[in-house]
Amino acid sequence: MRIEKDNIVIRSATIDDAEQLNRWWNDGNVMEHASFPNGLGEPLEDTIENIKSREGKLNQLCIIEIDGKPVGELSYGFKDNTAYPGWKICDVNYQNKGYGTKIIRILFEYLFTDEVINSKVPVERIVWDTMLENRRAQHVYERKIGARKIKIQENSWKDQLGNLRSFVEYEITREEFFNKNTSIDS
Ligand SMILES: CC(C)(COP(=O)(O)OP(=O)(O)OC[C@H]1O[C@@H](n2cnc3c(N)ncnc32)[C@H](O)[C@@H]1OP(=O)(O)O)[C@@H](O)C(=O)NCCC(=O)NCCS
Repeated sequence: MRIEKDNIVIRSATIDDAEQLNRWWNDGNVMEHASFPNGLGEPLEDTIENIKSREGKLNQLCIIEIDGKPVGELSYGFKDNTAYPGWKICDVNYQNKGYGTKIIRILFEYLFTDEVINSKVPVERIVWDTMLENRRAQHVYERKIGARKIKIQENSWKDQLGNLRSFVEYEITREEFFNKNTSIDS
């Protein structure tokens, strides 16, 4: 897939992106928000396999580019008329500048309207989660995207340092998304 809007490009990852993705996933600073404070410790071969395994599939792993530079990644999968995405702006220089909100809106519009996806899985809602302490993400999801907080999973996961971590789960339906996110916002 490839979506382009202003200076933002979201496109399927290729083998050429494997080293960059592997560097991000093995960096504890980047992965802390996903409760892997030591990074994934993933061999490059596994990252290459991950990319190859998505070829021709609906489930995609994508690179986010801003001004032609890879600054982060996102992915999504589907089950029961629901899309399950995740995203991160890995380059801190591109965080807190409004890009995250824009990228989420671009992605959600794509997931709800892409004909190939929706002919196979009519997407009725999008569900994702974030860690309880990720206040910035929660602000973006609740105040800017207009998502509903559906559940807090308390102490449901032990991270690499042995700390119990809690997650907040969010949902937005097709109707809610298009009511709350007009083209004026993006
Ligand atoms: C979470 C993320 C997608 C947000 O994107 P972003 O581009 O940084 O965010 P934006 O600039 O669009 O918006 C940030 C908003 O949060 C607010 N904010 C910043 N720090 C905050 C904090 N600690 N607590 C609450 N709100 C905060 C900003 O003021 C801004 O809101 P405003 O426009 O109403 O003033 C991005 O920071 C990111 O990918 N972070 C690293 C990985 C991650 O957390 N991924 C999400 C996991 S679910």
